[in-house]
Amino acid sequence: MSLRYRDKVVIVTGGSRGIGRGIVKVFVENGAKVLFCAIGAGGEAVEAELNKAGPGSCKYVTCDVSKEDDVKRLIAVTVEHYGHVDCLVNNAGWHPPHKPTDDTTAEEFRDLLNLNLINYFLTSKYALPYLRQRHGNIINVSSVVATIGQKCAAPYVATKGAIVSMTKAMAVDESVYNVRVNCISPGNVLTPLWEELAGQTPDAAATIKKAETYQLLGRFGTEAECGLAALYLAADATFCTGIDLLVSGGAELDYGVKSRITS
Ligand SMILES: NC(=O)c1ccc[n+]([C@@H]2O[C@H](COP(=O)([O-])OP(=O)(O)OC[C@H]3O[C@@H](n4cnc5c(N)ncnc54)[C@H](OP(=O)(O)O)[C@@H]3O)[C@@H](O)[C@H]2O)c1
Repeated sequence: MSLRYRDKVVIVTGGSRGIGRGIVKVFVENGAKVLFCAIGAGGEAVEAELNKAGPGSCKYVTCDVSKEDDVKRLIAVTVEHYGHVDCLVNNAGWHPPHKPTDDTTAEEFRDLLNLNLINYFLTSKYALPYLRQRHGNIINVSSVVATIGQKCAAPYVATKGAIVSMTKAMAVDESVYNVRVNCISPGNVLTPLWEELAGQTPDAAATIKKAETYQLLGRFGTEAECGLAALYLAADATFCTGIDLLVSGGAELDYGVKSRITS
């Protein structure tokens, strides 16, 4: 099997579970050296499992990407350990419980902006000096809801929309250094985060079952499919910059029953 990202150095934020874990796995399977981070438990187990399988390798570090000093350390540790950086995948983020605008405070919105958006800006800022040396690339994980909106989730949708816009702005600036900056926008992917949100509804199993029908393809996406989309942008899409690759099973297409007007 040919390895599509052999010996390239990749940073993935939030790789201990969910979409980030899928991305780390696909890169390791394709020969890359991956440094990934998270804050809670689980990173060490992923590290051990993926290093055993190879053929690439990975290293786990704890890092809270909402803290600038942690982000600086993340980039420094990568360069210390691997010598350079070829690709940065900004993935760590959070979807808060759904609630209407009337019940959402400015502080909650600011905290989410810090976690979901400013974190992507800072990791990019501190990795770019190294990415420029290697003509590398950045992949930002946004969401299909940046395009189609979502009920009772204005702050989340706003952070994801801003990620798409920031991707385009950075693609413009970094083109002079031959650094590409792209996005993937997953639709519904059944990760621990999705399951947690389903758990806040009256019937989690029914919520999950119903959500399968939101996609034209009639199912959730997988962590591995997100990993393959990221690998495509890093390894193959060498004439793409500033794009937003929807990984959504067609969730944004066709008409549906959407009207909430009852009279
Ligand atoms: N799942 C979906 O359907 C979906 C759809 C569209 C977009 N997305 C986006 O995809 C990304 C991943 O979502 P997911 O569903 O895979 O979420 P998840 O299951 O909750 O996994 C999130 C990962 O990010 C890490 N993380 C969270 N906050 C962090 C922080 N402050 N510092 C470092 N690491 C942190 C988590 O580690 P800890 O557990 O240690 O905190 C975990 O490894 C998010 O940006 C999300 O908005 C998800």
